Amino acid sequence: MKCVAVVWLSLLSLGGSASESSRCDVLLKPITISNEEMLGRWLYVGGSSNIPGSRSLAHMMTSVWLNLTATAKSNVLNLVQTQRMVGQCSSIAYDVIFENSTMVIEKPFYLKEVYLPTECSDCLVAAEDIVSGTDEFTSLLMFSRSRNVPPAALEMLRDQAECLQMVPPIILDPNSEMCPDNIPRSEGLSALNSLLEAKTGQRVARFLDAIFDFFVN
Ligand SMILES: *[C@@H]1O[C@H](CO)[C@@H](O)[C@H](O)[C@H]1NC(C)=O
Ligand SMILES: *[C@@H]1O[C@H](CO)[C@@H](O)[C@H](O)[C@H]1NC(C)=O
Repeated sequence: MKCVAVVWLSLLSLGGSASESSRCDVLLKPITISNEEMLGRWLYVGGSSNIPGSRSLAHMMTSVWLNLTATAKSNVLNLVQTQRMVGQCSSIAYDVIFENSTMVIEKPFYLKEVYLPTECSDCLVAAEDIVSGTDEFTSLLMFSRSRNVPPAALEMLRDQAECLQMVPPIILDPNSEMCPDNIPRSEGLSALNSLLEAKTGQRVARFLDAIFDFFVN
């Protein structure tokens, strides 16, 4: 009897996980994308990350957009990121390596970003692995050329987060005010790096994330 139950259970889990994993294989299979397709303005739609503090930030950031431009080096793009956080606009600029459909930042932390399938033709879904010292993090981000993203594409993003065993994405309000494109830029990735390196801050950040998720959602 016990033996039958074990066989039955393992058949059940086999069937379930096989179809689940093949669907996830499709959802998480990186796509190819050219430098030209990366260039220009992208609005941040929403995403999920296990970087401590990132969910608090996501709840405070009401809009974010990127502008990617080519540089003299064919495998280097310049990225300007402009965000509105608690009503204040700020902008940072940094260079990234982009080749083989992959974005890489080597310093001051390591970040590798690949792009996943999406149902929305003018969207970009990015999956990031980030290494900071001995810490490793994962982020899943969606960008779009326009403010309104079809619900099916958001649904797919949620499924992708689930496949990556991440918490559900936080989607920004598409009607929130965007920052203009003439914000003075501060250089580089130091702000993000201090977030990643703040080991003692990580516990506090996790606590804040939990509080934000609880009260804001
Ligand atoms: C791109 O591919 C080339 C050749 O396979 C390899 O040398 C290079 O390291 C790759 N770059 C990235 C960022 O993966
Ligand atoms: C993006 O950057 C390029 C080069 O600096 C600039 O010409 C273009 O106007 C920018 N676009 C936006 C939307 O800021």
